Amino acid sequence: MKAVLLVGGKGTRLRPLTYRLPKPLIPLMGKPLLMHVIDSLPEEIDETIVPVGYMKDKIEDYLEKNPPRRKITIIEEKHPLGTGGAVKNVEDYIDGPFLVINGDTVSSLDVGSFMEFHRKKKAFASISLWEVTDPTPFGIVELEDDQRICRFQEKPTKEEAFSNLANAGVYALEYEVLDHIGDGFVSMEREVFPRILDKGMYGLTFEGYWIDCGTRDSILSAFWTLMADSVEIHDSVDGRRGRISGPAIIRKDAVIGDGAVLGPYAYLSERTVVGDNARIEKSVVFEGAKIGRECLIRDSLIDVDVEVPAKTEVISTTLSGGKSE
Ligand code: GDD
Ligand code: MG
Repeated sequence: MKAVLLVGGKGTRLRPLTYRLPKPLIPLMGKPLLMHVIDSLPEEIDETIVPVGYMKDKIEDYLEKNPPRRKITIIEEKHPLGTGGAVKNVEDYIDGPFLVINGDTVSSLDVGSFMEFHRKKKAFASISLWEVTDPTPFGIVELEDDQRICRFQEKPTKEEAFSNLANAGVYALEYEVLDHIGDGFVSMEREVFPRILDKGMYGLTFEGYWIDCGTRDSILSAFWTLMADSVEIHDSVDGRRGRISGPAIIRKDAVIGDGAVLGPYAYLSERTVVGDNARIEKSVVFEGAKIGRECLIRDSLIDVDVEVPAKTEVISTTLSGGKSE
């Protein structure tokens, strides 16, 4: 069975980070988002097709250097075709029922059981669902008792929101769904789903976690979810110099200054440097970044090799050297 991985978006809400690297390559606990998704696919997926436009070379380069266990086929998408158009564009590679996955969500969905659900329901299309408090940034569905979807609406306003069950971005689709996707720019959510509702669409909710990594806050919460309550300090780090209140993860060759306070919730990647008496709370620091002495970093993401001058306050910010082209 084939899977189509949707990673073609520009990640505009994550700029300036996504000027430097495409959203699928943002490292979540040291592993790119894209690899979290690929690793969650069951054995029966024998090929993953990845239509990409934005920063295709970087994605290709990463996958060449870090080949996943199963076959990956990258297809160039010259202009963004939308979530439906991107699938239609690779239809020659699809040979039967298939899976479509948004590449920017990380979840505990058991994809194998989801495919089983799709088969049992003899569905035309199945959608994974997650209950949210604010449905406005998502697509929502109305479910009948037998889990049939009778309504789908993308990005409802507060007034329009008729349910809290959001599209979690994994679909199992029959091959014939392709006949309902026109050429050119097509949105799966706005155009295709509403059109195929009467053919038999079903929704499956699941337990555990689900995080859309489209914003800084959601990426940070993805770290905190995956870290749970762990405190991990690599052997190469002299953790005695600062005060570490977990959860916190400190990777290889990080240097912690005297009196620095880390956590709760701090993730320091390899070779990061934290100056004396600096404080880092609910923040993630990527490889090689240097936090000056007496800085306060809170609810922020500090990108690779960024140097934060001493005594700077960084609150709810993404600092990155990435620049628009
Ligand atoms: N190839 C390709 N081409 N991929 C695209 C394109 C495109 O033109 N546009 C978006 N994508 C990819 C994005 O990279 C992302 O992985 C996925 O498709 C979904 O696009 P987003 O732009 O991230 O959409 P969203 O987060 O606002 O909403 C979508 O995801 C929600 C769950 O996270 C919708 O599917 C919602 O219904 C859903 O609730
Ligand atoms: Mg998204």
